Amino acid sequence: MTDDAFDLVIFGGRGDLSCKKLLPALYSGFRAGSICKESRIYLTTRSKPSEDTRTWLGEVFGGNVPSCGLDDAVLSAFAEIVTILPLGLTDPDHIGWAALQKDIEVQQSRPVIHFLAIPPKLFTGVCAALSHHGLNSDQCRVVLEKPLGHDLESAQEINTQVAEYFTEKQTFRIDHYLGKEAVQNLLALRFSNILFEKLWNSETIDHIQITIAEDLGLVGRGGYYEGVGAMRDMVQNHLLQLLCLVAMEPPANLDGDGIREEKLKVLKALQGITPEIVKNQVVRGQYTAGAMGGEAVGSYNDDVDLDVDSTTETYVAIKTFVENWRWAGVPFYLRTGKRLPDRFADIMIQFKDVPHNSNKNWHDRSEPNRFIIRLQPEDHLALRMMVKNHAQGEDALKEEELNLDVTDPNRLGPYLRLILAASKGDQSLFVHRDEVEYAWRWVDGIIAEWEASGTKPLPYTAGTWGPYEAHSMMNNDGRKWFGLNS
Ligand code: BG6
Repeated sequence: MTDDAFDLVIFGGRGDLSCKKLLPALYSGFRAGSICKESRIYLTTRSKPSEDTRTWLGEVFGGNVPSCGLDDAVLSAFAEIVTILPLGLTDPDHIGWAALQKDIEVQQSRPVIHFLAIPPKLFTGVCAALSHHGLNSDQCRVVLEKPLGHDLESAQEINTQVAEYFTEKQTFRIDHYLGKEAVQNLLALRFSNILFEKLWNSETIDHIQITIAEDLGLVGRGGYYEGVGAMRDMVQNHLLQLLCLVAMEPPANLDGDGIREEKLKVLKALQGITPEIVKNQVVRGQYTAGAMGGEAVGSYNDDVDLDVDSTTETYVAIKTFVENWRWAGVPFYLRTGKRLPDRFADIMIQFKDVPHNSNKNWHDRSEPNRFIIRLQPEDHLALRMMVKNHAQGEDALKEEELNLDVTDPNRLGPYLRLILAASKGDQSLFVHRDEVEYAWRWVDGIIAEWEASGTKPLPYTAGTWGPYEAHSMMNNDGRKWFGLNS
């Protein structure tokens, strides 16, 4: 399928995000035909590379693009639509701006996406320069990459400054989790099956777990991560967005306004933060030296090369509630961490037990029904149910899984999906200003409490499933964390 042509300007075009995520995504979209050859991609840079664009792109891809491989002829054609443009980001008089303006004016009616893959402190300067050159007209959109602030105040400042130059309809805040295939599946599953909607509430659901586990540590990422931590890096955005998608009411319309209004209601209904709640329902940890796959690995402090002991958390587990009619009394457990034994992300919905055991002879009826939406490493839906265990005799039961492998061989990677959505002006997979701010309000409450209490993250050994306290929080509720192969 070929989408209509668009112009994409990546500010920070030779930076990390661009080289590691955006360019491979764009190449794969170009190769698959979802980006047409009339589209144009501009990469702004401080200085032009010494090689020609094709050679430079080849080096960036390092001989392979993981999602689709690298083909010489396709690479040459792709390089044709890429322009590397030296440009002084916050200096509107820099010659690069005039060149960009001239080029973009040639195709006045096509969508123009300005992707700000740069630190947020540069957002305002770039938006002002865009406006100065008339590059914020109706067909122009601005895509903002996280981190969108460090707290509510800084997020509001960014949002307010960007809003001086771009309307909310033109502003596309990225959370790449919303571009994942599994999120599309979650929406399809929830809103095109009556079966689940009838069960999707506190009458039937015991609790919900959302986990994003990572095996990687923070070697080489200390500059960004130190002082940010898992709460700001993962909970404020990815985990809360997933929670919203699971908990929201069916929107009248699955468009940008419909989805985002419902997600916002969930954020507003999150259980308020108090010192008691933070003490009893939030666990933060930091990894110490350990082993991953039999190899010794360093502690967080080693990885980020700090002389003083850091208080930045690399693990968070939270129990919270969505305080509304549908979810009254249903705990939502959120968990994320670095240097855990495995990399996976999933949403696990655990149903209540049957109200009455009709056959007193049934034994092993210990496992509740579970519905699992796996986002990675593969897209997968599974419903765990109890069935008769033939092998063990008439009255024995066992747990079986109904599996739905929903991996689409032609699936779009998250960044490609989001860029294509932005080119069409579709905001349903982007985050509204109010969502960002409500999420910060909640997260800030927890961080403020940590600071006020003067507590430190609890240690956990790299290669283990987080601090002991995160497990006892579950045990105290008579539950346990759900794992990849459990
Ligand atoms: C990013 C975080 O937003 O998401 C990283 O900054 C994290 O710390 C990454 O590793 C995880 O994304 P994914 O898609 O690899 O699960």
